[in-house]
Amino acid sequence: MTTSFIIFFAVTCLVGFSAQQRTFSNPILDGNSADPAVLKVGNYYYLTLSEERETELTVFKSPTLTNFRNAEKSVAYRTKNGQSNLWASEMHEINGDLYIYFCMDGNGKDHRMYAIKADDPTNPMGTWSDAIRLMPDWDHGAIDGTVMKHDWEAGVNEGAYFIYRNNVSFMIFSASTTWEPNYCLGLMSIEADKDPMNPSFWNYGEDKPVFYRNDEEDVYTTGHASFTVSNDGTETWMVYHGTVNTTHIDGFRIARVEQIDWDENGRPVFPRPHGYNNPQPVPSGDPENQRTFTNPILDGNSADPAVLKVGNYYYLTLSEERETELTVFKSLTLTNFRNAEKSVAYRTKNEQSNLWASEMHEINGNLYIYFCMDGNGKDHRMYAIKADDSTNPMGTWSDAIRLMPDWDHGAIDGTVMKHGNGQNYFVWASNAFNRRHGLWIAELIDPVTVGESKLYLREPRSDWEIQGGAINEGAYFIYKNNVSFMIFSASSTAVPDYCLGLMSIEGDKDPMNPSFWNYGEDKPVFYRNDEDDVYTTGHASFTVSNDGTETWMVYHGTANTTHIDGFRIARIEKIDWDENGRPVFPRPHGHNHPQPVPSGDLVNE
Ligand SMILES: *[C@@H]1O[C@H](CO)[C@@H](O)[C@H](O)[C@H]1NC(C)=O
Ligand SMILES: *[C@@H]1O[C@H](CO)[C@@H](O)[C@H](O)[C@H]1NC(C)=O
Ligand SMILES: *[C@@H]1O[C@H](CO)[C@@H](O)[C@H](O)[C@H]1NC(C)=O
Ligand SMILES: *[C@@H]1O[C@H](CO)[C@@H](O)[C@H](O)[C@H]1NC(C)=O
Repeated sequence: MTTSFIIFFAVTCLVGFSAQQRTFSNPILDGNSADPAVLKVGNYYYLTLSEERETELTVFKSPTLTNFRNAEKSVAYRTKNGQSNLWASEMHEINGDLYIYFCMDGNGKDHRMYAIKADDPTNPMGTWSDAIRLMPDWDHGAIDGTVMKHDWEAGVNEGAYFIYRNNVSFMIFSASTTWEPNYCLGLMSIEADKDPMNPSFWNYGEDKPVFYRNDEEDVYTTGHASFTVSNDGTETWMVYHGTVNTTHIDGFRIARVEQIDWDENGRPVFPRPHGYNNPQPVPSGDPENQRTFTNPILDGNSADPAVLKVGNYYYLTLSEERETELTVFKSLTLTNFRNAEKSVAYRTKNEQSNLWASEMHEINGNLYIYFCMDGNGKDHRMYAIKADDSTNPMGTWSDAIRLMPDWDHGAIDGTVMKHGNGQNYFVWASNAFNRRHGLWIAELIDPVTVGESKLYLREPRSDWEIQGGAINEGAYFIYKNNVSFMIFSASSTAVPDYCLGLMSIEGDKDPMNPSFWNYGEDKPVFYRNDEDDVYTTGHASFTVSNDGTETWMVYHGTANTTHIDGFRIARIEKIDWDENGRPVFPRPHGHNHPQPVPSGDLVNE
């Protein structure tokens, strides 16, 4: 189908349903955590706090912004000599180095600003320099130092923090005293080409707070904000402290987070504070509570599963009703087809039977399902049906069209190769001409017309291909960097050693010439995993995660070595790609081994 059609279909479907959104509730720590500040370095959030009665500057490390309760901790600075009352630390990255700014009493002086520098800027949990006194010429109290990344640097006001948008610097600062519930946030801004040292260039904002106590949700003392981004960098999040009532403040200011929006003029929009009983969606890309699923994806017999993604849905084809019905399952998620909508695309008639191994493919904007069955007194020939409406795999399909009527031999497991040379090929398994049951290839002239010239491409020879019978079958193609990869099944599907092998060919090479093929290493790429009780691992097809960023494999396996026929059940695994653009297969995941869900997974309602 055309690209514009796919985009249109995807957009239409996206407004039709909503994904189940994971949530969290404030706070992000349970104990006193006044003046929290967070910096994201690499994939981690680093929160700095004053601990041990304000003698230790502690760094917390967490992959999620929503929970620091069990975070790894490290002390970056500990007061010494007459130092005490270490307050309000903030980590900043400046020109590739990491600094933590904080204030403390020392040398008989009340609260002066200090900074420490990370010995290794990639590791905030490592060692830090001794404290460097800032502004030694400033003989007055100074707290809450922050950094403005203008062309200038300046330490300003209580609890100020800067965020930036469209070349405007926004200063968010705390107002009123932090010992009372009305502690709140105000906003000022200045354009990047203006000198912040000139007060007339500043926009002092509206004369009211932008973020303040929310009595309805029991959030008070809402101040001392710092800002960071969601894990995927697409959202702005604020870390601040608040209390749950107006009577317990000192010792009860606890770290919380809120998502900050931006209006069409590029100005930050602050929410009302969320209380402990008002869950918020987690930050975009948040890894905490990463949803998982566990194989299999269906409970009953589901041998030879194949999946095609059309728009936002996955369509799984299976042989059902004692191999008389070709059934299409429709699911929003790849991880569960148990309650999926079903539709019969083809039902055997007359003396047709043994309908096996169907695969749906999209070719030039049309949908076809390829399958084999017995018919006209012949054992297993290849057939195809065509969707009447290519946007709706659940609709009606054409009558069965016999493929390769000139091929008077058995033929199963037909698949389509869309090669880089712009030509399509048909690959199937057969033991024709008294050859071993192996893989054959021919040009696919149009979706239902196979070329006359046929090549016996692969014969099973090695140990791993001849368990329970010398067999290569179940081929399926995936593509990367203009290389076509053929994944195929080897050995008998009736034994636990059924496994997957790999061959490949470059996009500009003719697949009808065996010398152009790379036959791969002489061993399977995916095979039984006795430790996880997964056996008979074969007949793979491939698709992508909901957001298109990951490759996933659908295959069948059994849970033990004794129950195979009738117990081959559909499963999935994520496939990685190495730096050379070659697929990397995992070990099979058993029924007790959860995996992260595919990226962008949409839960079935
Ligand atoms: C921001 O404005 C300054 C001064 O006009 C200009 O030099 C700079 O390139 C601008 N930066 C961006 C990211 O637009
Ligand atoms: C106020 O909050 C503190 C700390 O969470 C709690 O211990 C205390 O019971 C609360 N008091 C009232 C009156 O709700
Ligand atoms: C793949 O290679 C062939 C032959 O060199 C070339 O014609 C084709 O454009 C390439 N396709 C892509 C997607 O790079
Ligand atoms: C083997 O697997 C089948 C199907 O899952 C199950 O019914 C049977 O109890 C298992 N047998 C053993 C010995 O684990």
